Amino acid sequence: MTIAEAVKVTVSHLQRARDAGERFTCLTAYDAGFARILDGEGVEVILVGDSLGMVVQGRDSTLPVSMDHMVYHAAMVSRATRRALVMVDMPFMSFATPEHALANAARLMAEGGARMVKLEGTRRQAEVVARLTDNGVPVCAHLGLRPQYVHKLGGYRVQGRDDETAVAMIEDARALEQAGADVLLVESVPSSLAAALRGAVSVPVIGIGAGPSCDAQVLVLYDLLGITPGRMPRFAKNYLAEGGTIRQAVGRYVADVRAGRFPDAAHSFE
Ligand code: KIV
Repeated sequence: MTIAEAVKVTVSHLQRARDAGERFTCLTAYDAGFARILDGEGVEVILVGDSLGMVVQGRDSTLPVSMDHMVYHAAMVSRATRRALVMVDMPFMSFATPEHALANAARLMAEGGARMVKLEGTRRQAEVVARLTDNGVPVCAHLGLRPQYVHKLGGYRVQGRDDETAVAMIEDARALEQAGADVLLVESVPSSLAAALRGAVSVPVIGIGAGPSCDAQVLVLYDLLGITPGRMPRFAKNYLAEGGTIRQAVGRYVADVRAGRFPDAAHSFE
């Protein structure tokens, strides 16, 4: 059975897809209406991203997003999702210690219906990842451009362009997998680094602005629909620009990712 045929997508389906070389899809949603459309079009992972701070709340970063906000949006998405795996972001400072992370992940799962949590991290978050996964919380570790670190990174820039940071990122990926991360997500890195990261681990790797060699792709839904305020990131593609309905735009994205047509060189970094 392929992942596209799964009746309800689980962490095991994602791993089997990677092992079988089947690409799968991920998109963000923040409410029941859009979640229902994504689920119906066969998106395998619906991410309730803290990008909601920017695209829904109109903030200029993800930092003001709270746990209460995440639980509220996660519950709406989970209620409308039948097939996809609902992955929910742990917001800024909600996983600063393993104890804090455990209590907050419990809320996202019990109140928000999350079936996986995502946290931005490097090897420094390995202890947090281990504590969560030891307690039955599936974890996706987000590497590369980590928007919650925008003030440390000095802006939303492509990461890992020099050898030193690229090697460090590969070591981070190994440490996070070793700590029990079930999935890695890598944002805004050169395609060659994303390929090396994927080769360094055996869990599925979801890419965004990370080139074509990842096991899956994710986009912010508002970018895919061309309604993000301000400048679109280079890696994003407006699938509604070709016309038709929102449902058709999501369907085209799913088909393109599965067939390896997205992302192409124009939506990747060298
Ligand atoms: O918050 C979000 O939507 C994300 C994606 C950009 C991957 O983390």
